[in-house]
This record gives sequence, structure tokens and C-alpha cells, in this order.
Amino acid sequence: MNAATSPIESVLVENRVFPPPADFAAKARVSGMAQYQALCDEAERDYEGYWARLARENVVWSKPFTQVLDQSNPPFFKWFADGELNASANCLDKHMGTPVENKTAIIFEADGGEVTKISYKELLARVSQFANALKARGVQKGDRVLIYMPMTIEGVVAMQACARIGATHSVVFGGFSAKAVQERIVDVGASVVITANYQMRGGKELPLKAIVDDAIALGACDAVKTVLVYERTATACNMVAGRDITFSDALAGQSTECAPVAVNAEHPLFILYTSGSTGKPKGVQHATGGYVLWAKQTVEWTFDMRDSDVFWCTADIGWITGHTYVAYGPLAAGATQIVFEGVPTFPNAGRFWQMVERHGCTVFYTAPTAIRSLIKAADSDPSVHPKNWNLSSLRLLGSVGEPINPEAWMWYHKHVGGERCPIVDTFWQTENGGHMITPLPGATPLVPGSCTLPLPGIAAAIVDESGNDMAHGAGGILVVKKPWPSMIRNIWGDPERFKKSYFPEELKGYYLAGDGAVRSEDRGYFRITGRIDDVLNVSGHRMGTMEIESALVAKTDLVAEAAVVGRPDDLTGEAICAFVVLKRPVPHGEEAKQLANELRNWVAKEIGPIAKPKDIRFGENLPKTRSGKIMRRLLRSIAKGEAITQDTSTLENPAILEQLAKTN
Ligand code: WT7
Repeated sequence: MNAATSPIESVLVENRVFPPPADFAAKARVSGMAQYQALCDEAERDYEGYWARLARENVVWSKPFTQVLDQSNPPFFKWFADGELNASANCLDKHMGTPVENKTAIIFEADGGEVTKISYKELLARVSQFANALKARGVQKGDRVLIYMPMTIEGVVAMQACARIGATHSVVFGGFSAKAVQERIVDVGASVVITANYQMRGGKELPLKAIVDDAIALGACDAVKTVLVYERTATACNMVAGRDITFSDALAGQSTECAPVAVNAEHPLFILYTSGSTGKPKGVQHATGGYVLWAKQTVEWTFDMRDSDVFWCTADIGWITGHTYVAYGPLAAGATQIVFEGVPTFPNAGRFWQMVERHGCTVFYTAPTAIRSLIKAADSDPSVHPKNWNLSSLRLLGSVGEPINPEAWMWYHKHVGGERCPIVDTFWQTENGGHMITPLPGATPLVPGSCTLPLPGIAAAIVDESGNDMAHGAGGILVVKKPWPSMIRNIWGDPERFKKSYFPEELKGYYLAGDGAVRSEDRGYFRITGRIDDVLNVSGHRMGTMEIESALVAKTDLVAEAAVVGRPDDLTGEAICAFVVLKRPVPHGEEAKQLANELRNWVAKEIGPIAKPKDIRFGENLPKTRSGKIMRRLLRSIAKGEAITQDTSTLENPAILEQLAKTN
């Protein structure tokens, strides 16, 4: 959290500015900077009044709220605390009897290319029926349900069905290991797990249910009474009598009507685990009212969503982006959206562009890492370049998850957006619930590589380590000075960690994002310079270095000590580098390669393949101070292949640097 040691580089000089196209701005929901400013002014003048207005306009309340923001016990803020609503009713029921009811809610494209469409009315029936199946298995308001599902309509149905009956869902990304699933089942206290027999990715049938079985077999999962299994493929999987039930059996005979359960605005809608700088992943707890409000409002503002749009957010429902911009936001806004099961490179790296053309996608939202890998693919194989497809349906592009480098931005703008589509570079986090700092496409002049300005009402600022404002042009710590409705409410079961992680005292009670940022001197635009804690961002996925270190040292027969740092990577943004001290002599050549692979596979088993270190270096020891503290900044330099220019005089064992810098 020290700005001085944060990876803030010199301020990037970026002179290109792209004002919103006039025809876009003319029709946009927020049109021109004056309108943006008017909203900011409204929030400034009457903060609670502003949010209350948005909450009334965007949310259907079964019991209207009379209180807006409750700050009586900071940082445990409450929003609309005496109001009641149901999130699923806000996504589905409210459209019934309107023209939206027969509109396509989801265009699902499977890994193999088969397409299924479902209307809002049909989706409501499916969600209701599934909710009844959950009730029949004893699930009640407040129970926690773990969802470990592929990207499918059924994944969205499972989430919405939980919301419908007031059960709190916790979705775990299908790429996480049995161990990670078990830890989450235990931490969240899940009584039900919803999964699929298999998932299809890149033409391969990958097990999911078997991983759930392994997770439960790891122990401490006695609370799990039911495992619901979606038969994604025809291949059989192991079913435990009395505990496991297929979707078809669970749904048989269930009514397609189920009254939504009204919950308090502060009722936990979901818990989503994310990595922190220390210890185990944190269960980020979100409330219902404020979250639904911001999910809908940001879909309408940032994506300028209209009735005729075909929206596509490529994120998996296992991440926050897939929660807010697949499972809730687009539905609350009555949009048609694409849900894609597969991967961008199967059957070839033209898959995204082919799908944009096929479905007439108008608003496309993806991660810089995907763009970079598709640039690389198009460079080496012209047949997958976006120019091979008709992308004229696109009118708006979005980016999320990590900083987008200006070169990737320019390529996206030119080759995907045909130089006519604005790009919204949306900065936000799992803890934020929805967009925080982002251009509004009909208002904000764009600067490649900058997420530009905070949304109206979001009090983002850059401060020093004591919480004092930094001047534009000077890098510092990104904070949010006021609570906002879709913010994290707690770390599930760990309020102390919640306070310590996000509201450190020295920052005057501001929300600490964990990123460094700098504002441009001319426009005051924000540019995110990367995490200032021990969190890495690998392909837009958040990984804690400590988590990977713990996984490595858990291999007790082999590993004595490990330190993990990140280094810049052209494709994945950051790459994971592990420095490992073995309980045997330092290996070289083939032996080193083989041991490195063994450790990679071990980490994949402990956490998931996304946590596999790219580089593994072995040494006799790690660079430590005389008091035994590992000097990570030196390891970062070695990982980058930089010459060590830092002061090494406090180092106990300077010779170790040379050893670690050599490849084994
Ligand atoms: C971290 C949050 C909710 C978005 C998906 C990732 C980085 C996210 C941007 C952006 C620069 C970004 C930050 C942040 N990040 N969006 N537009 N520009 N950095 O959510 O897993 O909670 O990760 O992703 O470092 O802290 P997450």
C-alpha cells in the first residue's frame, strides 16, 4: 500500500483523443459532457437524493424504502435499508405484460456452435420451475447455494432461481480445482451445490461433477445435502444416491410459477470469492437493492442500452463481470444478450467475430487479454482477422479487467469497431458491484489507455498514504471517498478483515481499491497503473501471490520455501513467477524442467490452472533482509530480467541474486 514502491511508471503521454461520434451522441442516454456534468452536480448537491431518485427509477420495490444511506456504523453502510425487493422479479417479472415479455432474453451459442434462444417469458418460467425444485429440496431464504456451472442458460437460471427464493448464491468459476471448491463450500456453508456433469470447452468434454465429488470427499462438507446435476452432455457421471439428483428429475412435476420472495434491500444476494493480498480468498458479500440498482443503471449508461441492442459480455458467470453484465444487469434492462459457452480460439481465433456477425451483436464487451491474443492470432493467420467478417452491426465496444494498452485499444477501435464505435474502458472490481470509472459513450471524449472519469455519484479520488488528495499528474492510491449503493457489504464471516482490507484508518475511512492511479493534467482522466498490493492480474483474473505461495509450500515433500511475484507479459498482462527453494539440491537442466512442471500441475490441483506459474526459478535460498524478510522488489527485478540497481546492502545473502537470475 506504499505508493512510493508501487509499479507506477512515468505518466504515459497519449495525445490521441476520440470524441463521441455525433450521431452516437445525438441518440445516447447520456448525451454530451454537459449532461454528464449535470448528473455529477446533482450527486454533489444532494448525494442521498440523487441515489434515492436512481433507486426509485431503476428498481421495482415490493416495499418502498424511506431511508437512503445509513452511516451509523461505518464501514458497514446500509442502503435503502427498510426497502424490500426481489432481484429476480426485477430482471424477469417486471417485463411481463410489456413488449419485452416476448423478446429474446438470451441467445445461447454452445461450444460446438448450436444456438438456442429463450424469451423473457420462457426464462421466467424456467427460473420459476427451478426455484420450485430448490424449494422442494428444502432450500430457504438465507441458505447458501454453491454454483459450479458452465456458461449456459442453465447457469443463469440457477443464479436467478436462488435470487427468486432469497437464497444467497456463490458461483465458483468452472476452472477452479476441487480444493478451491471445497474451501468455498466450507467457508460459505453451502447446503446445496448446483453443477453439471460436464462442460464443453474448445471441443473437449471436461468434468465438473467429478470435481464436486472430489471437493466433497476432501471433507468438512457435511452441510451439503443436495447436489443438482445439469445433464450438459449425454455422458454419464457418478451419482450419489440420496444426495445427487439430475436437473430433469428435480424439475419433473414442478410448476413453472413461483412467487418471488421479497427480501430486505440489504439481504445478501450473493457471495463471490476473490483473491486478496493475504490468506485465503475473500467471500465478497453483496446486498440486493443497491446492487440491482447499479447493475441496471450502468448497463443503460455505460452501454447505452436500447431495445434494439444485441449485447454480448464474454465474461464467465464465475466472475463478477458475468454476475453484473450477464446474469443481472442486461436482464434488468430488458436487453437481448448473447451467452457463449466456448472459448475465443475454438474452432479458430475468428470465433468472436464470426459470432458478432452471426447474431448481429451491437455492443461487445470483452477483456484486453482476449483482444491481445486475437491480435496475435490475426497477425500470424490472416484468415482469422476480423476483416473476414461483417462487423457492421457493432456500435459500441467495451473493455474490462485490466488496463488496455493503447496499441490494443487502437487495433480494437480500427479492426473491430471500424473506427466508428466508441470504446468504454470500464474500471471496477469484484467489490464494487458495477462500473466505477468509465467513459459514457455518448459524452466522454476517449483517450486510449484511460478509463477516463468516475460515473456520476462515484467519489473516486487519488490520495497519498495519509488520504490527502494528490495533484493531477502525480500518481497515488485510488480510493472512493463516499459509500455507494453497489459496494461490498462485508467479507463473509470476517468483518475484521473487511474493515482492515478496505477501510484502513490512515485513509480517513475511504474505500481502498488496491490500485495505483494517476490523473492526467489536462482532463483529469484516470489511468490505472496496477495493483499496489500483492495481487496479480493475469489475463484479467485476480490472483493473490500469497495464495500461490501457500499452494507451493503445501507440497511438503519437495518445497521448503516459495515467493511469488508478477512480471509484465505481452499477452496476459502479468505473468506469475515463482522462486522456489527445494528440500533438495538446486536442480538444473531436464531435472529443473521436470520439477517445474510437477509444481505447476500441483498448483493447478490446489487452486486451478489459471494459477499455474509461468516461470519457476530454483535457488538455495531467497533474498532476505537480516531480519528474515523476503525482498520482493528484488525478485520482481529478477523476474523481469532487469539488472538490479536497488540498494542490496541490507541483504543477508547477496550472492543469491546471481543464482536466481540464472536459468536453472
Ligand atoms: C482489478 C479488479 C470487475 C472487473 C473484472 C475484474 C483491474 C479491472 C480495469 C480497467 C485497469 C482494471 C484492477 C482492479 N481492473 N478493470 N478497466 N483498467 N485495471 O475484477 O477480479 O475484482 O479485479 O482488476 O487492478 O483492482 P476483479
